[in-house]
Amino acid sequence: MLGKLKRLARSITPDQATPEDHWASRVLTPEEFSVYIQMDPRDREHGTRVARTLQADHPEADVELIAAAILHDCGKSIRPYSVVERVMVGLVPYRFSKYIQTEGVKVRFSHPELGAEMLTTAGARRNVAELVRLHHHPEANPRAALLYQYDHLE
Ligand SMILES: [Fe+2]
Ligand SMILES: [Fe+2]
Repeated sequence: MLGKLKRLARSITPDQATPEDHWASRVLTPEEFSVYIQMDPRDREHGTRVARTLQADHPEADVELIAAAILHDCGKSIRPYSVVERVMVGLVPYRFSKYIQTEGVKVRFSHPELGAEMLTTAGARRNVAELVRLHHHPEANPRAALLYQYDHLE
């Protein structure tokens, strides 16, 4: 919970975010980067941090998994949150978000599918879009399960 509150405090304003955009541009294809750069700086920072940590612990991880880790929350950029929504979705666990019916929370609930669609439309690698689609429901996909695990270290 403390970690969650710290992340929330950091998430209130976008100007404090320091995403690793240059590194991301080297890992992603130009099509994927066009989706990445539309993300909120706080989500870009979160994505690049998750990807860096995963890569540090698993140097054998393939580049598609690292790309998916960078992009995993890109579906949230379809509609930017208001400050109130950002605070609320930061505090409501994902598994409860289906019971809350504000527009921002609805986007949060469907952001894995929205993100995968955005990536497919942009021409991203098929496996990258698929890993993004599965990142909250990794089920039998071991690479998606690894991404899920590192996302939840935050
Ligand atoms: Fe997510
Ligand atoms: Fe995430």
